Amino acid sequence: MKVLFTVSEVKPFIASGGLGDVAGSLPQALRKRMVGCRVVAPLYSGIKQEYKDQMKYLTNIVVPVAWRRQYCGIFELRKDGVIYYFLDNEYYFKRDSIYGHYDDAERFAFFSRAVLEIIPVIDFKPDIIHCHDWQSALIPAYYSKMYAQREGYENIKTVFTIHNIQYQGKYGLDLNKEVVGLPEQDAHILEYDGCVNFMKGAIETANKITTVSPTYANEILDPWFSHGLDPILNQRAWKLQGILNGIGYDMYNPETDKDIWFNYNAEDFSAKAKNKAELQKYFNLPENPDAPIVAMVSRMVGHKGFDLVKAVIEEFICTSDAQVVILGSGEWQYESFFSELAAKYPDRVGLKLGFFVDLAQKIYAGSDIFLMPSKSEPCGLSQMIALRYGSIPIISSK
Ligand code: GLC
Repeated sequence: MKVLFTVSEVKPFIASGGLGDVAGSLPQALRKRMVGCRVVAPLYSGIKQEYKDQMKYLTNIVVPVAWRRQYCGIFELRKDGVIYYFLDNEYYFKRDSIYGHYDDAERFAFFSRAVLEIIPVIDFKPDIIHCHDWQSALIPAYYSKMYAQREGYENIKTVFTIHNIQYQGKYGLDLNKEVVGLPEQDAHILEYDGCVNFMKGAIETANKITTVSPTYANEILDPWFSHGLDPILNQRAWKLQGILNGIGYDMYNPETDKDIWFNYNAEDFSAKAKNKAELQKYFNLPENPDAPIVAMVSRMVGHKGFDLVKAVIEEFICTSDAQVVILGSGEWQYESFFSELAAKYPDRVGLKLGFFVDLAQKIYAGSDIFLMPSKSEPCGLSQMIALRYGSIPIISSK
């Protein structure tokens, strides 16, 4: 079986969250099961030069974006047995961040259309195109309405995976004519609740909808979790399935991880205590082996449970001898609250604002308990990584 994996971020090249992790490890895992999987992603300027240097220019094509015609360079990179294609257009992807631009709809409409246009050029006709989240949600709609009957495109199935239903790609109704470019009679496929909604289009047209855990597959049928999409998902529940994510055990391995101070494994984790001592040193906390370190590595937003933590943390500090270590950035109210807390209890709270991949690994390795009290979590990878590094995850449940 041949799979074309289309995604807006992929580790180790570029990532902003769990989606990039999954894109980095699932194709490798499929490969081990003899599924030929190639990955397509945008060529962002933020990709490190060392990877850009490994890319080989294949060719360029012209991609329609509604009434526009846009250049698309195709670059190939081979890594650990997987072939990656990076699609180049500096107008769309030479930006200081991967998302959050006024024209994200157009950027990812271009990307989605380009994925289909490159198929004859790369000489890889997939059995399945596997699309992820709203950024590649237009692909199933484009395929079913504009490509399925074309020569060279027959009998491809599309799978759409929802990693987070909160971000749907919602825009004004004029977007189809200006940017998406589906034939007028098919424009209704994207329309929902008075908007153009990319994710709704994928739910309607993909052959299969998956999400990243069985629990989340049930949750998104409920208005509390669905961000408005439950009616359409309930209609299509027959093709919805939850498949639990995993983590790449090679990527996250305390035995080989170069970002942690001391390597260890499940048989001999004496070095975990040494990582803990280093972590205490790093955050200027007393080097007390008996004080449990409770850690959080997360976006600092209420949804991730920071409001719950904020409500009880001071009492927790005053009634236990635990040390608290937090890495993340986000809403001002939490950044300032936890900064004040760290200033008030410097020997109990270590805080680092921002996101640093190597420090995150050090925290997994050096902590005893990993706090992840998200209000809802489609799957969550951090708790799995914490388990892999011997830090016990604590979550909240309804
Ligand atoms: C999103 C979800 C997270 C999930 C990840 C990978 O980031 O919020 O729960 O683990 O995607 O699927």
